Amino acid sequence: MRGPARTARRRSLTGPGPPPPDRGLRLAVPIVLLAALGVGCSAGEDARSAADCVRLARAGFRPVATARDERFLGKVAEITASCRGGERALRHRETPWVDWSSYWGTGDVRSRGRAGTTQDRRGIDGALLDLEYQRVELIAFNLFDSPTYETYVRGREGLPGPSVRVWPEMRLPPNHPLYAEVGGRGEQLCRGALIRHRTITGVCNDLRNPAMGATGQLFGRIVPFEATFPSLGEDERARSRHGSRIGLLVPDPQVISRKLLTRQQTHPEKCRSGLGLGGDSVESECDYQKASSLNVLGAFWIQFMTHDWFSHLEEGKNAARMTDTGCLSHRVDGVETPLGPGEVAELGCRPGDRVDRAILAQDAPPATSEHDGQSRVARAHKTTRNTVSAWWDASQIYGHDETSRLRVKRDPADRARLLLVPTARDPRGVLPVLEPDDPMNPAWAGQEATAFPDNWSIGLSFFHNVFAREHNAFVDAFREQAARTPEADCGLRDPARPGRVIRYADATPDELFEAARLVIAAEIAKIHTIEWTTQLLYDEPLHLAMNANWRGLLGGSHPELGEALGRIVTTFGSSSDVKKAHRWYSVFASGPGIVGLGSYVYEDDSVFAAFTPGKRDVWDLANPDHVNGGTNHFGSPFSFPEEFVTVYRLHPLVPDLLEYRELGQGPDVVRKKVPVVETFRGRATAHARSGGLASWALSLGRQRAGALVLGNEPRFLQDLPLPRLRTETNRIDVAALDILRDRERGVPRYNELRRQLGLRQLTSFDDFVDPRLPPGAPERAVQEERARRLREVYGRHRCDASLVITDAQRNEDGSAIDDCLGHPHGSLVDNVEDVDAVVGWLAEPVRPHGFAISETQLQVFILTASRRLFSDRFFTSSFRPEFYTTLGLRWVEEGGPDGKVMEPGTPNGHPQEVSPLKRVLLRTVPELAAELRPVVNVFDPWARDRGEYYALDWKPRPGAEGDESFRP
Ligand code: HEM
Repeated sequence: MRGPARTARRRSLTGPGPPPPDRGLRLAVPIVLLAALGVGCSAGEDARSAADCVRLARAGFRPVATARDERFLGKVAEITASCRGGERALRHRETPWVDWSSYWGTGDVRSRGRAGTTQDRRGIDGALLDLEYQRVELIAFNLFDSPTYETYVRGREGLPGPSVRVWPEMRLPPNHPLYAEVGGRGEQLCRGALIRHRTITGVCNDLRNPAMGATGQLFGRIVPFEATFPSLGEDERARSRHGSRIGLLVPDPQVISRKLLTRQQTHPEKCRSGLGLGGDSVESECDYQKASSLNVLGAFWIQFMTHDWFSHLEEGKNAARMTDTGCLSHRVDGVETPLGPGEVAELGCRPGDRVDRAILAQDAPPATSEHDGQSRVARAHKTTRNTVSAWWDASQIYGHDETSRLRVKRDPADRARLLLVPTARDPRGVLPVLEPDDPMNPAWAGQEATAFPDNWSIGLSFFHNVFAREHNAFVDAFREQAARTPEADCGLRDPARPGRVIRYADATPDELFEAARLVIAAEIAKIHTIEWTTQLLYDEPLHLAMNANWRGLLGGSHPELGEALGRIVTTFGSSSDVKKAHRWYSVFASGPGIVGLGSYVYEDDSVFAAFTPGKRDVWDLANPDHVNGGTNHFGSPFSFPEEFVTVYRLHPLVPDLLEYRELGQGPDVVRKKVPVVETFRGRATAHARSGGLASWALSLGRQRAGALVLGNEPRFLQDLPLPRLRTETNRIDVAALDILRDRERGVPRYNELRRQLGLRQLTSFDDFVDPRLPPGAPERAVQEERARRLREVYGRHRCDASLVITDAQRNEDGSAIDDCLGHPHGSLVDNVEDVDAVVGWLAEPVRPHGFAISETQLQVFILTASRRLFSDRFFTSSFRPEFYTTLGLRWVEEGGPDGKVMEPGTPNGHPQEVSPLKRVLLRTVPELAAELRPVVNVFDPWARDRGEYYALDWKPRPGAEGDESFRP
């Protein structure tokens, strides 16, 4: 690589650079730095690294960027890399990928520093600091909420935008059924019954912004609105970036699917596009690239989660109008050329496929306004609505509106419970199926009755049944407690009568049902945060970071870092500069953890006083500022950004064939291979019932998920039957649809998305090859072939250095990044700017250790996953017995009614509680007890030996040597 783009890479590496931000930040950072360094370096350590640590301590940290084009990019100065990871980290700096992944201790045992030195601590704490920098910058530069953006930019009544906490746009409109109840035309403030529990549509989570996060709100964006919808050509930078090379169907989505995403098969005749040999034959074979340390339960868990968080479809339907999905053209010598019949046959795509268009909320041109001499659009060119509530409220189980709630069946014998019906394999009961008179899309017939039934799979069936049982387990435990101590205070309170004690005997079935919903939602959030994510991102920094999100670093294994953060909290907590307090709140929250922030209020201080032991809690249910006071929206109402949906397009996680095993009849033996396509929708329910929950848990628990890489789309999803479409083929290629939907919704292409997220840009397809791999290495050959295919599909063009393509970043010399990306004017350059976001992140060859996803996806999660905790009062200031009951709060915090339980030993060097999902499974499917005994994380393949310190090897744990999946 040559020219300015190369120097652009170096810019952020060589010291502070940008002008210093406020004094507080400059004071704060060295405190953290010293903690991260440890004190001094021992004599045996690498001399250069040790000397660089001293230099780094003297120089202090780089300040947090105050302008978008001065961001950190995940790349550190030479001395920082040397101090935290020695030679390995120095070599890594040459790649576009984030530096922390090469620090000491951030990989497996081979990454560890010398014993008896502070190297591991420097590396791991350094990684945590890099991640925190990213979060602070993402909060500062990546919040774009359509309805309130103008306020965010201009501020209101003397307050800067990021400090605004209440927005008129988040009021309930006059036609809303609860309009009068929240205050109508006057001040809107939720109270009484509306704040007792999670409402069905999610209104009144925030007492003063009743509509925030509720069903039907607009998706936000994580990039400036100008960077969205690049193919419309409305924005000058986008025109310069892409010319006329991109459109809804250009480059062709089905061609991309077939050439870049298809799973190659050794025995296509045994796979038959995912159908296998029929009869669930064990002789069927569909190859897939396997994730190293994530199982199929992990794949379906995230489908289960996304159905809680977002959907663009209404009752499983898109807009009425249909659109082509490609298989029409390909790129030949830079020119889009129609596909001939021979080429169509060779590719195996289908020109007759059509699909219903995405539903849009607004598509009229957005208003523009001037601010600071700049003209800005007030929203994206088109917007879409989230058709479920954005809160982590288990709405996939309990409902997001009146219609979906009608599908939720309660037990007539005790309306606090969910209805379960016994079956031959599951006498403990499973969910009943939808009745003909239930409101539903006809495609859902035969499925379990549950609030969100779309794209039903065996994994969804499993998790819905497990959590229905868990709901009832909580209700039963509450009832047992009530039988033992009917007069005792159960902790619950009615905000309409806050002074009245509610005894166990008093709790009504409705009150208990809603308390159980809160408990289940929080348990799910906990599982996702500290169990699923730590397995998806299987290394020490992410283990600590995710646990910090949930329960904080202060009580954890990094006391110095926690202490430093605590001191900063105290400093900034008393700051009168609200903006500063907001921006740094994120850092401070790493100390105590997000969950429970503001759930205690002390007489003389703010939420930060949680750090001072011995203060008297004066939290008061009658005080809206206490009920709501622990949340922080960072100046932008909480919603999911459209790009969040994109990074959850994780279809390659799903295998084509499920390896079915029987619990109690030799768990090592695969007895059937069940095509996933044969378990789609109602057939999932039939299979779940005939196999039983325990055997399906074993099967999905032992099988590896697919790896999130190119060339790994399930074959069946490229050929998915969808009769509801009534098209020539009645089929759809979901890989092509993933690309098409992102284009319909204006997600920026990969390279600009990286720049906007504060990551380093790529300058050619060769950047998808890890430069540290030696020539001729097999892995390098694979990456080079991928780069060649990307070039074939997306093409090249002659570049024009006069065209500025972005405002997100600049070259080192301050010049603008242009169409040539550092290559000579007029040269033939790769169309790396055109690569679709999904394709780009699947192609990333360098990932932090144990990462099933890419660093680009992580960047979106860092911001959004934290925000959905920060913004939700039920995870912060209302995380209290008044809402959850005393039993419920303990259930969430301790993993159940019987207190904390520890795993034997110290997995990965930590004393560890039995994981929250393992506790749930032991309660709800107790037949699994023996199989689960050696399992530390339910999403790690159950027969895998976790080995020492974040090992990724595929080898059996003691006792599972006979498992077929370990055969060569
Ligand atoms: C049996 C397995 C699965 C099937 C049959 C399936 C099918 C589909 C289909 C047909 C769509 C397109 C909807 C549309 O835009 O018209 C879709 C969207 C999507 N799928 Fe899957 N899927 C499966 C598993 C998964 C898994 C494991 C994930 C992991 C997170 C996932 C994530 C998504 C996401 C994020 C979308 C976009 C949703 C939206 O636009 O709101 N799917 N899926």
